[in-house]
Amino acid sequence: MAKTLFELKGVYFSYLGKFPALCGVDLSIPEGSRVSFIGANGCGKSTLLQMLDGLLFPDKGIIKAFGAELKENNFNNEKFAREFRQSVGLVFQNSDVQLFCPTVKEDIVFGPLQLGLDKQEIKKRLERLVDILEIKDLLDRAPHQLSIGEKRKVAIASTLIIEPKVLILDEPTAGLDPLTSRHIIDLLIQENIAGKTIITATHDLHIVEEISDQVFVFSREKRIVRNGVPSDILKDTELLEAHNLVHIHSHRHKDGVHIHAHTHLEHHAQE
Ligand SMILES: Nc1ncnc2c1ncn2[C@@H]1O[C@H](COP(=O)(O)OP(=O)(O)OP(=O)(O)O)[C@@H](O)[C@H]1O
Ligand SMILES: [Mg+2]
Repeated sequence: MAKTLFELKGVYFSYLGKFPALCGVDLSIPEGSRVSFIGANGCGKSTLLQMLDGLLFPDKGIIKAFGAELKENNFNNEKFAREFRQSVGLVFQNSDVQLFCPTVKEDIVFGPLQLGLDKQEIKKRLERLVDILEIKDLLDRAPHQLSIGEKRKVAIASTLIIEPKVLILDEPTAGLDPLTSRHIIDLLIQENIAGKTIITATHDLHIVEEISDQVFVFSREKRIVRNGVPSDILKDTELLEAHNLVHIHSHRHKDGVHIHAHTHLEHHAQE
């Protein structure tokens, strides 16, 4: 059986002590797995991902990573912090949080330079990612002047270039055109085959089956209400409806306008 990578027990967290964001989360994530989190806006997905990335810590309960409890104090130890940052990488939901250098190129190589990676190796990794993500023309531009999708590609590159064992992605395909989304998903699948653990939060149910072998569903009460394989979760319309994951949709069939729940997964090719 695969080793447990992350383990959360009875985790509570609130921002500034008054805005609850996680209210009793228990879960475990095996090494090398593909896991996704789905749920309504504000249910705690991004908070959880930031906790897995060692940026937030439980008010109550414990989080373990690689067998050891994750505590804020650990990150004052330079060796621990460095090893953790090299092992776990997060692509933020809002790319502006992640991009702060004068040029795209500087932003992408910032992490590996900080970690002291060999310059030739950084160049090799940069060229590969620039190629896959088709961002060559952006390298000398200022990140804050890019489109949302361009920023996301740069943010993804700046995390992937570190080659962490655990890749955490918050809404990786939001704002991306279909072909670019395809490239990113293919890239994530390749990384997983190569042994990396892939953890994503997404509203895009289309990608859930490809990017995960286990799905966790958050409720508005900011805890996990279900977890299972994507095929089981995605066919549970009642569950999806209860958690804002399908919408009531009006559209035209041959015989008139229908209003019904729509899962994003259904196509009307047969109509
Ligand atoms: N910086 C913050 N300060 C105060 N409250 C916050 C902050 N960030 C998030 N929250 C609150 O924490 C809760 C969980 O937010 P979180 O961003 O984790 O949700 P989410 O599931 O990622 O939502 P979305 O689908 O909109 O990205 C929400 O109620 C939100 O209002
Ligand atoms: Mg979020």
